[in-house]
Amino acid sequence: MSSGSRPVSAAPPAKRQTVTLSKLAEKKALGEPIVMITAYDYPSAQVAEAAGVDVVLVGDSGAMTVLGYPSTVPVTIDEMLMLCSAVRRGLTTPLLVGDLPFASYEASNELAILTAQRFVKEAGCDAVKLERGGSSAERARAIVAAGIPVMGHVGLTPQTATALGGYRSQGRTAERALDVARDAVALQEAGCFAIVFEAVPSEFTEAVHSQLDIPIIGIGAGPAADGQVLVFHDLLGITTGRMAKFVKRYANVHEDMVAATREYTEEVRSRHFPEPDHVYGVEPAELAEFKRYLDQESLVSQKAWDWEPLP
Ligand code: KIV
Repeated sequence: MSSGSRPVSAAPPAKRQTVTLSKLAEKKALGEPIVMITAYDYPSAQVAEAAGVDVVLVGDSGAMTVLGYPSTVPVTIDEMLMLCSAVRRGLTTPLLVGDLPFASYEASNELAILTAQRFVKEAGCDAVKLERGGSSAERARAIVAAGIPVMGHVGLTPQTATALGGYRSQGRTAERALDVARDAVALQEAGCFAIVFEAVPSEFTEAVHSQLDIPIIGIGAGPAADGQVLVFHDLLGITTGRMAKFVKRYANVHEDMVAATREYTEEVRSRHFPEPDHVYGVEPAELAEFKRYLDQESLVSQKAWDWEPLP
């Protein structure tokens, strides 16, 4: 762990209350940082639960982290619903947000509502997230009007990264900063309960903070955000290779997994595994009788294919 000298408790707080939208608003009002993390399956949800995070996002980043796609674009609604359902089964207290994937909400308000409803009804999500301002603010308004809480996402929006010129930080010119700020305000006015700021300068977040009443959850948006989110696989070091500048690695789980799996491989090959602790025993009398049976009749002669087909 790279937590330095800071003491980190292994045990979760005794009994946590379910995190609600009003709890998040209260945290912002009190200046208490909101902790959000992504999760994509039952064990990662259990980790988030045990660690005591506030919000779990089943991000479409799962397209890359767990499904192996090259970007978030190809992931389908059904694939996202399967990931969300698994996470739901592992969570009790954090708010569960499902990411609406690319092309599942943009075309019309009706499509956006129908997709969001599937995330709530079929996968048990508490809320959904969508990307960008513009027409997405209109979709957010429609989903909120249908009774489903929505989280917005501005700055670097990976679903439309190509149009943004690639995976690069946003809001670094006054003009682009104004676009991003306007998108954020539009999403707030549409009724979003929180908004993700991705890959924007810290100074931008600081400048816009007073303009927004809803919590800002930052990922590469600096300390002025009301909360932070990181991708589970990035912070634990399950993903390998080049990471975005905003990622802090708290563990090197990939290395641990490879080392453990290599040790297992070597132990099987060298016949050091299984050890006596890993095997089942049998009463000597039962074993002796079994061997007597084997001596009397050949199992092989009772061929599995010697059966009478049904008429
Ligand atoms: O998909 C995702 O993981 C996200 C977070 C980076 C906010 O959208």
